[in-house]
Amino acid sequence: MQKPDIHRLYTTRHHAYATMIKLVGHEAMLTKYFQRIAFPDDVRVLDAGCGAGALTKSVCTVLDEQKIQAECIHGFDFSAPAVQDYATFAAQHPEHHIAVTQCDARVIDSGLSLHWKNYDYILSSGMLEYLDKTALAPTLKQLASRLHVHGKIIVFISRNTWLNKLFLEKIWQANTYTETELRAVFQTAGLKIQQLRPFRTWGYVIEATQSFKQID
Ligand SMILES: C[S@@+](CC[C@H](N)C(=O)[O-])C[C@H]1O[C@@H](n2cnc3c(N)ncnc32)[C@H](O)[C@@H]1O
Repeated sequence: MQKPDIHRLYTTRHHAYATMIKLVGHEAMLTKYFQRIAFPDDVRVLDAGCGAGALTKSVCTVLDEQKIQAECIHGFDFSAPAVQDYATFAAQHPEHHIAVTQCDARVIDSGLSLHWKNYDYILSSGMLEYLDKTALAPTLKQLASRLHVHGKIIVFISRNTWLNKLFLEKIWQANTYTETELRAVFQTAGLKIQQLRPFRTWGYVIEATQSFKQID
């Protein structure tokens, strides 16, 4: 279901990834994106594939700017060193009630606490491309089941360009996606895309909600 070495890659190359995202200003790019959102008071957020917390840190920056305290920010990742680093950041920011757990995205139903639900925002940056392409729709579906009825999922995922095929597919073992593929996958997962557009040079950002079918 997933290239077998991804777990090892993100356990052994954890520091290489941390250095790379510092160099490219990943957290600042995410902060800029989230500054467009007016987060509600007591917002509930899930960071799926949180790594050491770049996305969560950017959300905290924006919440602080908007003078909002989160009801909770939860993160999960399957890499132990990443979870440890995330936990260190969480401990330094008690005001946002941040918690983290080690979990594989493909087994959320059995791996995540049943209390981890009703999220206003489920956010994921740079993780879902590591799943086998066939696992993407089922994983999105499992994630979406943890959304609040009015919640939104925002996914940053690698875009299929020749440069990304060289850099992300060869060096970082990630899959890359076309817009057509993503539209099909989100539909299969029961998600309604509100917006899909390029994000910086490496990705697409997709904002979606659950597409509830009208029952006659
Ligand atoms: C490129 S990093 C992104 C980390 C963070 N979201 C960020 O924006 O910096 C990918 C992360 O996804 C995690 N990951 C990959 N496959 C996963 C899976 N099946 N379940 C949970 N985490 C996974 C890796 O351990 C790694 O921390």
